[in-house]
Amino acid sequence: MDDQTFILFGASGDLAKRKVLPALYNLHRDGKMPRRFTVIGASRRPYSREAFQGLVMDALHQYSRHPVDSDETTAEFLDRFHYVPFDAGNADDYTALKGYLEDLEARAHLPQNRLFYLAMAPDFFGTIAVQLQASGLTSGTGWKRLVIEKPFGHDYRSAAELNRQVSAAFDEREVFRIDHYLGKEMVQNIEIIRFANSIFEPLWNNRFISNVQITSSEVVGVEDRAAYYEKAGALRDMVQNHMMQMLMLIAMEPPSRLNTEAIRDEKVKVLRSLRRYDEAKIAQNVVRGQYLSGRVGGQEVVGYLNEPGVAPTSTTETFVAAKLYVDNFRWAGVPFYIRTGKRMKEKMTKIVVQFESIPDKLFFNKDSSLAPNLLTIHVNPVQGMELSINVEQEESGRVEPSEIDFTRESRNSPEAYERLIEDAMTDDPTFFTRWDEVSLAWKWVDPISEAFQQHQPLYPYIAGSTGPAAADELIRADGFRWWNG
Ligand code: BG6
Repeated sequence: MDDQTFILFGASGDLAKRKVLPALYNLHRDGKMPRRFTVIGASRRPYSREAFQGLVMDALHQYSRHPVDSDETTAEFLDRFHYVPFDAGNADDYTALKGYLEDLEARAHLPQNRLFYLAMAPDFFGTIAVQLQASGLTSGTGWKRLVIEKPFGHDYRSAAELNRQVSAAFDEREVFRIDHYLGKEMVQNIEIIRFANSIFEPLWNNRFISNVQITSSEVVGVEDRAAYYEKAGALRDMVQNHMMQMLMLIAMEPPSRLNTEAIRDEKVKVLRSLRRYDEAKIAQNVVRGQYLSGRVGGQEVVGYLNEPGVAPTSTTETFVAAKLYVDNFRWAGVPFYIRTGKRMKEKMTKIVVQFESIPDKLFFNKDSSLAPNLLTIHVNPVQGMELSINVEQEESGRVEPSEIDFTRESRNSPEAYERLIEDAMTDDPTFFTRWDEVSLAWKWVDPISEAFQQHQPLYPYIAGSTGPAAADELIRADGFRWWNG
């Protein structure tokens, strides 16, 4: 890994504390950091360097995967941290940052390799990119990279405008748009399950797969993020990015080789083949919901409309289920069902591939047909996969599904952010989203957001449930059911 400086905008914010700073520490502990690296924290707060280092330590104590020992490794890590008070709207602050950075690089004999990480409110993404260039911060003698968090715009137009600003300062190849689901171990494993095993790929098409279900359910509600969530809703918050990414990896064609652009080229073709819906089709194929009060994990919780910061008449959706079609040769006629929501029964992200049923001619069971084979990819919190196959049960003599189970409880393995930050630092953008992916995902989502603002019904569901009944109906109408549990 090249020696470099990591410039962290939004250094005192929640994301920095929970994810970015602990990820840097864990990479350092695992010996994955370059020999010489420096971090400059930048945010509005008027911290001294020591105060910022104190904040870093607090973040590590609270959120680090590795225990924080007061040893030399920790002291060495902390010593890399510097701080510059910074207001993204003030052009002078970029000049001051540049002066500080150049001075530091010179003193530490660092090449001018600069990774700019935007862990802050999206309103500033465009301004920062423009100002980084205008101030000359991007004109060092080394390389430059921009890591940018979601949301990348709130619809196609705003995303295109943001991209115009970003690409004035950075080449597409230098932009690392984070979708943290792409950093998850089992999401990264989808291509291995598919392309490194001869038993799945021959069946991976509309002749042998009857439907695919992608679920990401959460137990938490809107938490303290109403200001953002009220404008986003589940569609923009989860579907446009995370759900689409999982769909792309499941449905893509094998890439010609395992390199970044070949993989991204195949992913983007999935979005190009995704059936577009007009208003009438949206009404048939997309269900949205909003949580009521209920019991979650043994505790009474309020409904969405009573959450702090939520308008009492809000029509923001906290749940979306949809039926999608990838209209290409491989997938013609196969429904892909997606489902995501807050305040649901359990925290669970998983992908279920349901294979076609075999002809029921042999009547293994007299009173019921055979269960379909299922391949379940467990993303979170359980990780791994399960294959459900029919076998004769010893006691009853019935032919019932049994699981071949390759799951494991999460171990102390690197978190999504560690993988992604390491990739950005080593210049591997495979698991980041390319602009054409982002733009096509917005183009698919935009008509749905518009329909949501018109008269699309908003179905209430009880907190702690599996979502509104209309989502069950959506899939039942096709003769299938959600594979819960
Ligand atoms: C984020 C969303 O991108 O993903 C959150 O903004 C959501 O609303 C989170 O809670 C879910 O991520 P994970 O990794 O917990 O499934």
